[in-house]
Amino acid sequence: MPEMSLNIPADKLPQHVAIIMDGNGRWALSRGLPRLAGHKAGTENLRRVIRATVEFGVKYLTIYAFSTENWGRPPEEVKGLMYILEDVIDRELAELHQEGVQLRHIGRLERLAPALQEKVLDAVELTKDNDRLILNVAFNYGGRAEIVDAIQNIMKDGIAPGDVTDALVSRYLYTAGVPDPDLIIRTSGELRVSNFLIWQAAYSEWYVTPTYWPDFDKEEYRRALETFAQRDRRYGKVSSNEYEASNA
Ligand code: FPP
Repeated sequence: MPEMSLNIPADKLPQHVAIIMDGNGRWALSRGLPRLAGHKAGTENLRRVIRATVEFGVKYLTIYAFSTENWGRPPEEVKGLMYILEDVIDRELAELHQEGVQLRHIGRLERLAPALQEKVLDAVELTKDNDRLILNVAFNYGGRAEIVDAIQNIMKDGIAPGDVTDALVSRYLYTAGVPDPDLIIRTSGELRVSNFLIWQAAYSEWYVTPTYWPDFDKEEYRRALETFAQRDRRYGKVSSNEYEASNA
């Protein structure tokens, strides 16, 4: 297959892409396979998408791997997803580190097995000075939990109510220091936010595709970025062209 180039001016490339990797279960079901086979295929696809992200020059990637609500899935699926996180760290960490990827975890670590918590913390520590790609892994992540944690910490720090601003809240989120996502991709066609980056997504652009996550390939990723580059982001204002025209 010929190598696809990205047809986007540098200033139209999103700095931060976030992905809801949905549809693993249906991908498996449609092949008569167990759900965990879908998560395995999804993990393989994640490898490809991380590579493509580095290649495209996107600086921040956030992936939704396990939500605070996913504990309600059958125990064997929960166990399988825990195992996948452990296995991904065991198998991929050295290469990710070599490629200059900085791993960050967003979410609540406490509920994970102590050995897995340690593995995550070690991976974060090992890669903390890398800067080619910042990869936020949302695992046991919930947007509401994140805001609750932020409020608790703001109160613990004794911040006066009048000093609570947008910027201050952002600094208390798990994503402190990370720019808000420019583009959020959701695979498998569901039209909902699912408690993902609910504060940070205030002005994100969305790309929703019916493709199941294991089938979301580099070609479609490129299309998502090119579609994003065409968008007119107004942040609640009018477009700059229109503004200039009306003031001419
Ligand atoms: C949603 O599909 C997917 C998940 C809840 C898990 C996503 C995990 C991976 C892609 C594996 C990578 C994981 C790590 C830890 C790096 P679904 O099961 O909700 O699909 P369905 O809606 O079709 O049932």
